[in-house]
Amino acid sequence: MSENISKPAKAAEKEVVLSGIRATGHLHLGNYFGALSKFVRMQHDYDSRYFVADLHALTTSPDPSALHENVRNIVAEYLAAGLNPDEATLFVQSDVPEVSEMYLLLNMHVGIGELMRTASFKDKARKALGINSDSDDIEKEIIGTDSNKRVNAGLLTYPTLMAVDILIQKAKKVPVGKDQEQHLELTRRFARRFNSFYNVELFPEPTNFDFGGKPVKVPGLDGSGKMGKSEGNCIYLIDDEKTLRKKVMRAVTDEGPKEPNQPVSQPVENLFTLLELTSAPEVVQQYRDAYADCSIRYGDLKKQLAEDILKITLPIRERVIDLQNDDVTIRRILARGAEQARETAAKTLAEVRHVMGIRRF
Ligand code: TRP
Repeated sequence: MSENISKPAKAAEKEVVLSGIRATGHLHLGNYFGALSKFVRMQHDYDSRYFVADLHALTTSPDPSALHENVRNIVAEYLAAGLNPDEATLFVQSDVPEVSEMYLLLNMHVGIGELMRTASFKDKARKALGINSDSDDIEKEIIGTDSNKRVNAGLLTYPTLMAVDILIQKAKKVPVGKDQEQHLELTRRFARRFNSFYNVELFPEPTNFDFGGKPVKVPGLDGSGKMGKSEGNCIYLIDDEKTLRKKVMRAVTDEGPKEPNQPVSQPVENLFTLLELTSAPEVVQQYRDAYADCSIRYGDLKKQLAEDILKITLPIRERVIDLQNDDVTIRRILARGAEQARETAAKTLAEVRHVMGIRRF
């Protein structure tokens, strides 16, 4: 059988998997374990489509030259981490203009109330406006102050755009970290609402995907919360050896266990979590035991951790450096990806327009 005949049939059987990462900076270990490593593991078994969310990046940091660089970097990092353009469709969000049109259309079925109640909106709006409190008066602040330049309508409608990314490809599985679950819940709600309003079965309801485990939350090095660009506690895939070792050695710990089997403090538990993600189970157990009998030395734990992280990141870093200046390769891969992504997107958009009554005479 010729390849031309067997390929489309195969692709049609596979479930569509879609995910993306915002183009706001280099990828870090949080992106790697929360998303990218799953993308790589899924690429062969599914009809996988992975993109760089450049339009989403504009909701918080509109900086033209930085945006362009960030898109290039993430594409290079996707490839360097093992995404294979012959297995998966790799594209840039804005290369699929159908997304922008469907975003306008879907917004007609999205309530401003549900958008304003979304946790990610509240967090980002609070940050932009310099509000610390957890008070729910955020709505008043936004309507009442001179917030226009700092909180844009794109930030509010972020979940609509993300839902469109997913629904326009009719994706069933969306591998994302824990922080994206509310967005996925909204996507399912919008899909249900659209289907029932027009009495159609156009959109499947997508779910997160995690190889049987629970969604990973990768902690930062500062003793608290998750690893995040805005938190300044990241290990980047592109970090060189010296920088990476220094970051790990400086990670926050505590004074060490004083008595056997003492509960583990948050900062130290974070290091154990990172060790669990990067090291062999025996190694983790060895340090857990050393903690339990108070013989642990955090310096040794950190050296081990740095070593094991480097085993993952250094080969990626080398490939990123090779790819970063290879615009020809990147352009070729993205052009093919855009073409593949647009094919489905155009079909879905035509259906959506028809269903909504936007029809030719
Ligand atoms: N909101 C996601 C994030 O910040 C990025 C994203 C945009 C996305 N559109 C998506 C993820 C569609 C999965 C599917 O990480």
